[in-house]
Amino acid sequence: MTDIAKIFQSPGLESRNENPMSEPCIMVIFGASGDLAKRLLVPALYNLACDGLLPDNFVVLGTATRPLTTEVFRENMSGEEQGIRKFHTRKIFDEAIWEKLVSRFHYIAGSFDDAEAFSKLRQKVAELDAQYRTGGNVLFYFATSPSFFGTLCDNLHHAGFKEGAGWKRIIVEKPFGTDTESARRLNQVVLTHWDESQIYRVDHYLGKETVQNLLAFRFSNGIFEPLWNKNFIDNIQFNVCEEVDVGKRGGYYDGAGVLRDMMQNHMFQMLAYLCMEPPALYEADAIRNEKSKLLKSVRLYTPEEVPQNFVRGQYGPSLNMNGTVEPGYRETAGVNPQSNTETFVAGKLHIDNWRWEGVPIYLRSGKSLWKRGTEIVVEFKKAPAALFRGTQVDKLASNRLVFHIQPSQGIELQFHAKVPGPVLDLQNVDMRFSYGNAFNASRYTGYEVMIYSCTKGDGTLFSRSDLVEAAWKIAQPVLDYWKTAPAPEFPNYVRGTWGPKAASEFIKRDGRRWHEVVTPDVLERLPLFSGANALLLNAIIMALRPETAVAGEVIINKGDPGKEMYLICRGRVEVIDGNGQAMEQLKDGDFFGEISLLISTARTATVRAMMQSDLFVLEKSDFSRILRDYPHFAEAVMKTALDRYNIAVSKEQLLA
Ligand code: BG6
Repeated sequence: MTDIAKIFQSPGLESRNENPMSEPCIMVIFGASGDLAKRLLVPALYNLACDGLLPDNFVVLGTATRPLTTEVFRENMSGEEQGIRKFHTRKIFDEAIWEKLVSRFHYIAGSFDDAEAFSKLRQKVAELDAQYRTGGNVLFYFATSPSFFGTLCDNLHHAGFKEGAGWKRIIVEKPFGTDTESARRLNQVVLTHWDESQIYRVDHYLGKETVQNLLAFRFSNGIFEPLWNKNFIDNIQFNVCEEVDVGKRGGYYDGAGVLRDMMQNHMFQMLAYLCMEPPALYEADAIRNEKSKLLKSVRLYTPEEVPQNFVRGQYGPSLNMNGTVEPGYRETAGVNPQSNTETFVAGKLHIDNWRWEGVPIYLRSGKSLWKRGTEIVVEFKKAPAALFRGTQVDKLASNRLVFHIQPSQGIELQFHAKVPGPVLDLQNVDMRFSYGNAFNASRYTGYEVMIYSCTKGDGTLFSRSDLVEAAWKIAQPVLDYWKTAPAPEFPNYVRGTWGPKAASEFIKRDGRRWHEVVTPDVLERLPLFSGANALLLNAIIMALRPETAVAGEVIINKGDPGKEMYLICRGRVEVIDGNGQAMEQLKDGDFFGEISLLISTARTATVRAMMQSDLFVLEKSDFSRILRDYPHFAEAVMKTALDRYNIAVSKEQLLA
């Protein structure tokens, strides 16, 4: 049994006489032959069954227009290629548990707008209720296109599903509306026949353990909450970077864009958790009231304010090292070849309340970026540096608390420590909690807790109508502005990069920068660091600053004083001599700018970006410290200086 199951079966629950099992019910899945059911819902049910949280009278009734029999439906769900054996998330697949679960799967074909089909459905539900004794409880799961939500609600009502014993609840998938008005209309339609307490609007980010942990972290630890305000926090950043492109979803995506697809829902939900006031109780409405209050205090921009606070991007094709071209967004099936839909967005919000006044909240998300990673960085105000005047310490970094939401899962606190030795020097270090090291739980789809809590009537993790509308209201001025204002020259970023240069310029105007979360595996891809020990990698990670150069941009100028060296994360640059001749090209994994740091001379050449290039910058003080502390790094840099520029640097020079 996993830890989650143990927690659910903890003495606390038992002593409160609460049954840890999901409640018995018939889960009617509309759109049961679609992707969501096989990829996520059924694997989630299987996980609940493995954790002993699904009673024997939990039944699935799939329905969709496809004329399948129950037997074929079961076979499809069991399949090697497209069924549970492919999509389950456990280390070991338990045949017996699956067989028992799938034997309670049933199917009935029917069209979503056909009254006749609904009376047959009602009859089937009644039969299953009698057979399995589910107490009349029915959970309707709308795994369909949102255009059916209203019709389904009406037809369920007219077919008399609300009558009789037991509870009736509806889980609605996203997207819930496409703007404020459509969300309001959809709420009206859904709530015409059903009560708010029966509607469970899913945002699958709230099913993620690391997102749920935001509340646990904030409100169960005494040490952070006193610092959680404008007096101590300088800014907060939400990064949701995706490596995947739009794929086969061009048709849907071109009408949505990343602001609707990721920010209005998932990112605003995380924002609410991170910044809301403490609720009085750990109870659905107490929590949702606070989330709603928080979202309602986000400043709504005027049209003039939008371009100062939001930038958008769209990915173009990329040329790979092997000469192949990966298509850009406009070349995707289902996408208008002149599309101005954004696949990247970076924005700044302000929360106009007592706690957060003046603390900028930066948000950034996009497709086809350099890595998959969702992180929240809380950057604290810097300590006064006065004490260190006259020492080797020339600047202090800020302390940062990083929530690693996915794929790495954990929390990290970054702060300064004294470098061991007789001379006072500081280095950024971190304290980490990683889920993998602390818990022995299986990987979940995120839908387990959604289905489980819905059967328990617990709406904590679901969105309420006021919350959905408040989130749309924040996005609305941006959507309106973008609809009418001329789009930037799209595409404006190359796939596989950090996004458009405009995004880094936008935050730089505030004197800040995005915190790219670098992991040791990224650094190890650079030949300079392959085989480097964990200490060196960590020291470098803590010191790197990300910077983007666009094609043609001069990164360093011959003759200028050298203050930093550069590592190319992705891109291509050319080294130009005094006569304007290109001497050399450098690409992913190479580095440059180290010579003038090594021998304290002016820049010996000009370096210019040949394409959009993402760079990690290592400042002189960090560079020198790392050279001193890590002889392996110093030797590699000396060897490159000799090979590349025929400059022999002595150890003494290096460490001077
Ligand atoms: C969905 C979006 O809601 O979330 C997708 O429609 C996106 O475009 C996905 O890829 C991301 O979810 P996750 O759990 O992979 O971060």
